[in-house]
Amino acid sequence: MPRPWVALWVAVGAFTGAAACGGDSNPPARVVTIPDTPTATDSTLPLRVLAPRRNLLVGSAIDAGFRFTGSDGVEFKGTMVTQFNLLTPENDLKHDHVHPQQNVYNFAPADSIVAFAAANGMKARGHTLIAPTQVASWMANGSWTQAQAQQLLDDHVTTVVSHYRGQLMEWDVVNEALADDGSIKPSIWYNTIGRGYIERAFRDARAADSTVGLFYNDYNIEGVNAKSDSVYAMVQDFQARGVPITGIGLQSHFQVGGVPSTMAANIARFAALGLQVHITELDVRVPLPSTSSELAAQAQDYATVFSTCLQYPACSALVMWGFTDKVSWVPSTFPGWGDALIFDANYQPKPAFGAIVNVLK
Ligand code: XIL
Repeated sequence: MPRPWVALWVAVGAFTGAAACGGDSNPPARVVTIPDTPTATDSTLPLRVLAPRRNLLVGSAIDAGFRFTGSDGVEFKGTMVTQFNLLTPENDLKHDHVHPQQNVYNFAPADSIVAFAAANGMKARGHTLIAPTQVASWMANGSWTQAQAQQLLDDHVTTVVSHYRGQLMEWDVVNEALADDGSIKPSIWYNTIGRGYIERAFRDARAADSTVGLFYNDYNIEGVNAKSDSVYAMVQDFQARGVPITGIGLQSHFQVGGVPSTMAANIARFAALGLQVHITELDVRVPLPSTSSELAAQAQDYATVFSTCLQYPACSALVMWGFTDKVSWVPSTFPGWGDALIFDANYQPKPAFGAIVNVLK
């Protein structure tokens, strides 16, 4: 007997921050009816229906700069809530956004994203508490003693984690702390506190929320290399000394053809430590203008990352760094590269979307 139809409620109007962020007209909710049974029509099912069958959460980052407003609002929100069951604020929780002055916190933008997720049955990841490369200028340019910097780190982590207690699935507690050779990057946190700033952030986060997942997140740690070796050693040290850590985030910003051949082995070794291993920022950039053969190769890369993740129960969440080529950090960050996501700039599915559906089926 095929199972009955499942109605996926698409609350495209439930974005509570819309009025504050540019006058979205709050389009009405719509109901999309889709068959919840594996059939030949699976290729028409959204990712958020297919992924849970494989015990996977599938998500996208969403940024303040593209806040569901204007003529794109309906398509943007509609695609987002139809396809994904997990969101990551792309920038709104970073130190420089959420804590713009020493005694000023700006929670409203991230609050609206978290509320949107909850209203649409999606989970949310917190990104990120301590990112050495994105620190508010009052902190980065200040002159602090070690004790002062420790206090400022404690205050920040405690305040932000407490604000979202019970609302997030997990936090990227520390982001991009390491250089490619595995050493700790210089930053205001490292220069004032020393390497202990990393574990301090994890301990503070756990003290403020006893159950939220606590992740170390970075790029170029997807495969086995000097940098991921350093993360591995850090985690072992944390576990030996009782520093709380739940998982590792593999950002996964790849060039087409650049998925490391050791990604499965790398996930396996972190999973063997009892950690969760989540894909947190996947995108696959291609040289512009993109060609059909590059987009086919990109589709293969997306399929490889999804199928690699699915091999490991520890890899229970996979987030892409956006979903439409209309809005992506890639073109401005990597000039000459782009088209890194799974929907094109007109919200049409690309070959990568179909490849992911094939893997999930
Ligand atoms: C990027 C955002 O996408 C951009 O909008 C912002 O200008 C810079 O940061 N690794 C991370 C993310 O952990 O926070 C970065 O996000 C992309 C690389």
